[in-house]
Amino acid sequence: QPMFRTIDDLPAEQRLLVRLDLNSPVEDGEVQDNRRFSRHARTVRELAEAGHRVVCLAHQGRPGRDTFVSLSQHAEVLSEHVGREVAFVADIHGEEAQAAIVDLEPGEILLLENVRMCEDELPEKDPKTHAESEFVETLAPFFDAYVNDAYSAAHRKHASLVGFPLVLPAYAGRVMESEYEANTAIATREFDGPVTMVVGGTKATDVIGVM
Ligand code: 3PG
Repeated sequence: QPMFRTIDDLPAEQRLLVRLDLNSPVEDGEVQDNRRFSRHARTVRELAEAGHRVVCLAHQGRPGRDTFVSLSQHAEVLSEHVGREVAFVADIHGEEAQAAIVDLEPGEILLLENVRMCEDELPEKDPKTHAESEFVETLAPFFDAYVNDAYSAAHRKHASLVGFPLVLPAYAGRVMESEYEANTAIATREFDGPVTMVVGGTKATDVIGVM
């Protein structure tokens, strides 16, 4: 049993803030489609079909890098995978974003701008400090609940990952749930004889740290 609530536990017709990890390779300014979109699409589609208002939050690259671009293309790619329109607003918690959030009908999906364009997002801080940031304090009142589906970014102490769960009821999305189950199986499964663990990953610095 997971140690957290999943989207199966959500009350009806919620206004949801859903953290995804759509961070992707970017070639000549073009965002490359990849499995992250199809995997998160399952969570997003399920939430929209259930009649929730779905506002997605994600990051792309880091300031100063070529991959640090707007999420407007991500909205199009995600929309193709979900099979529903995914609207995009080039704002994170300002008036434009707030207006788009308020306009959303049940079952509609909106993607906000690259959350790393907000200066409150990236500093590594404890959850309480992030929860008291202007970003979290401004955006949280527009929502009933927070869904974290960004398993592959969950090791970062960033505002959109650790701040919101302190001020909104928090739930795990399908990607978070399945990755958690796969990883905890290492501890619960019975192995016959010695075990070899194969660790993958494309970010050399992170892989070395884990090893
Ligand atoms: C990833 O792509 O590994 C995650 O989105 C985290 O991105 P980061 O390493 O830039 O924090």
